[in-house]
Amino acid sequence: MVIGKLKVINKNTVESTNTWAKKENITNAVFVAESQTGGRGRLGRKWVSPEGKNLYFSIKLEVSDYIEALHYSFIASLAVAQAVYDLYDFTVTIKWPNDLLINNKKFSGILSEIDTNNSKLNVIIGVGINCFFETKNTELKDIATSLHYHIEKIDKEFLFKKILETFSKLNKEYKQREFKYILKKWNKYAKIENRLLKTTISGKKEIVKVIKLNNDGSVVVERRDGGIIKLVAGDIEYVEKSNN
Ligand code: BTN
Repeated sequence: MVIGKLKVINKNTVESTNTWAKKENITNAVFVAESQTGGRGRLGRKWVSPEGKNLYFSIKLEVSDYIEALHYSFIASLAVAQAVYDLYDFTVTIKWPNDLLINNKKFSGILSEIDTNNSKLNVIIGVGINCFFETKNTELKDIATSLHYHIEKIDKEFLFKKILETFSKLNKEYKQREFKYILKKWNKYAKIENRLLKTTISGKKEIVKVIKLNNDGSVVVERRDGGIIKLVAGDIEYVEKSNN
C-alpha cells in the first residue's frame, strides 16, 4: 500500500518499529507492526505495545540536516492531532514538544531518531497511539489514556490512513513554505503561550511559564525567580489542566 508518497510495510510482531526501520535500506516508507516486544519511549522508557490494541509505526525519511529532522516530530504530532479532529471532531492537546494528551493524560507519543547509515541522514519518526488500550485499573491509569475511552467507534486502520494522508499533506506544505507555517497550525493544538510547565533545570524540577514559541519550535520561559531562558527539548508536564 502507498499513502501519499509513503510506502507502507507491515509485520505482525517486531522488537520495535524504530529499530526495524533503521535496519531497512529504504526511505519514504512506513514500518507498521501489530505488536512490539521491546517498544521504546523517550528518555529510555519502554512503550507498552500489546497486540492488536494500538497503532505502532515508524516513518523513515531522508533529511538534509538535524533541524529538518526535528521539524518532522512537530509535523507528526500535528498530523495525529489533526487526523483525530478531522475524523472524529475531537480536539486533543499537544504537549510540547510532541506528546498527545486528552484530559492531561497521554494517549500518543513520538520517538524521533536519527540514522546516519550510508552517509545519508535519515530520520525515523516512531509513533505510538493507544486506541483500545485498557489503561483504567492499571498502574498507568493516572498518566495514560486511550482513544476508545473518549471517542466512539474508533477505527484503527482508518485512523492510520488518515494520519499518513495528513502527514503527507503537511509535508508538502512544509516543503513549499516555512516551518513557522506548520508551527502555527501545531500551536492550535498546543496553545503553548502562558502555559505552566514542569521541567528540569540543572537537575532540579521547576515550574516555569511559557512566554513565547520561537519559529524553530523552541520556547522562551520565565523562571520562578524572574529569569528568562530558552528550552529546546526536555521532559515537561503541563501543570494546569489541558483544554479538553
Ligand atoms: C514517548 O516516550 O512518548 C515516545 C513513544 C514512542 C512509541 C513508538 S511505538 C512505534 C515506535 N517504535 C518504538 O519502539 N517506539 C515508537
